[in-house]
Amino acid sequence: AAERTALKERIRTLLRERDAVMVSHYYVHPDLQDLAEETGGIVSDSLEMARFGRDHPARTLIVSGVRFMGETAKILSPEKTILMPDLDATCSLDLGCPAGDFADFRAQHPDRTVVVYANTSAAVKAQADWVVTSSCALDIVRALHAAGHKILWAPDKHLGSYIQRETGADMVLWRGSCVVHDEFKAFELEQLRRDHPGAKVLVHPESPAAVVAQADVVGSTSQILKAAAELDAELFIVATDNGMLHKLRTLNPGKRFIEAPTAGNSATCKSCAHCPWMAMNSLRGVLEVLETGLNEIHVDPALIERARLPIDRMLAFTA
Ligand code: 13P
Ligand code: SF4
Repeated sequence: AAERTALKERIRTLLRERDAVMVSHYYVHPDLQDLAEETGGIVSDSLEMARFGRDHPARTLIVSGVRFMGETAKILSPEKTILMPDLDATCSLDLGCPAGDFADFRAQHPDRTVVVYANTSAAVKAQADWVVTSSCALDIVRALHAAGHKILWAPDKHLGSYIQRETGADMVLWRGSCVVHDEFKAFELEQLRRDHPGAKVLVHPESPAAVVAQADVVGSTSQILKAAAELDAELFIVATDNGMLHKLRTLNPGKRFIEAPTAGNSATCKSCAHCPWMAMNSLRGVLEVLETGLNEIHVDPALIERARLPIDRMLAFTA
């Protein structure tokens, strides 16, 4: 505990000295979430991380999350220095959608409007008409569908099929998935709900359809937080990365939150629903990059120019 306090103090000082601010995702370690907030930064979902990073006047952003979040920050603020605690922190959705294969997929469907999830590389975003996150994907596709567009969607198949069911839009889907959300189990969730009949179920739409079907609320991380505050219940079952539990519990002290079941989180493993790449972020990593300036995110300027347009569209749509 003494070491943590010392690390945090040193980081606070360096943030001031380097004109830097921390932007953290809800899935990273609670220390990194709290420190971001305590030092004038933000802990949020991927949409608001992007907006905050763009609008904040600091010259340096420390992005605690995964690589696509650092790249989005760079695309929106090429003049800023973007540092990440660990450059190997990636995402199965990003890894599963290489830019070259995606270009081939697009070429097979030239008549479709290309909507890509934020969890992709800059090289994939540069091929998109729209970038979306889970908090605005439904509204954006609904609006495109109403305007007569047929959609090419990538890369998360569960989020894509959820949107398809909700909007009735004509969509072809890339077959990617999130290693964390793909693991939530519908049958075990049914059993857990039977054990806790009053519980409300909050589900991130990267989860399989049979899990989504049992939700009281389906939404992004920030929408899950909002629902937990608003819904009148004592117990909530949460199907998203368990990094979320920190914020849910601190903001709702009178309520209880338990993890939705994955294959492994029975007696032997209480924390299976946690992203291995989000877990690479640490206080020590933040301190190191502040001290050394290492782990800077670079994006090819030609890609920045092309990827910025679909991200700007999303930010304007949700402003
Ligand atoms: P949101 O914070 O946009 O809900 O994203 C979830 C996610 O998987 C980020 O890795
Ligand atoms: Fe990617 Fe899933 Fe990890 Fe989010 S939780 S970064 S979607 S692998």
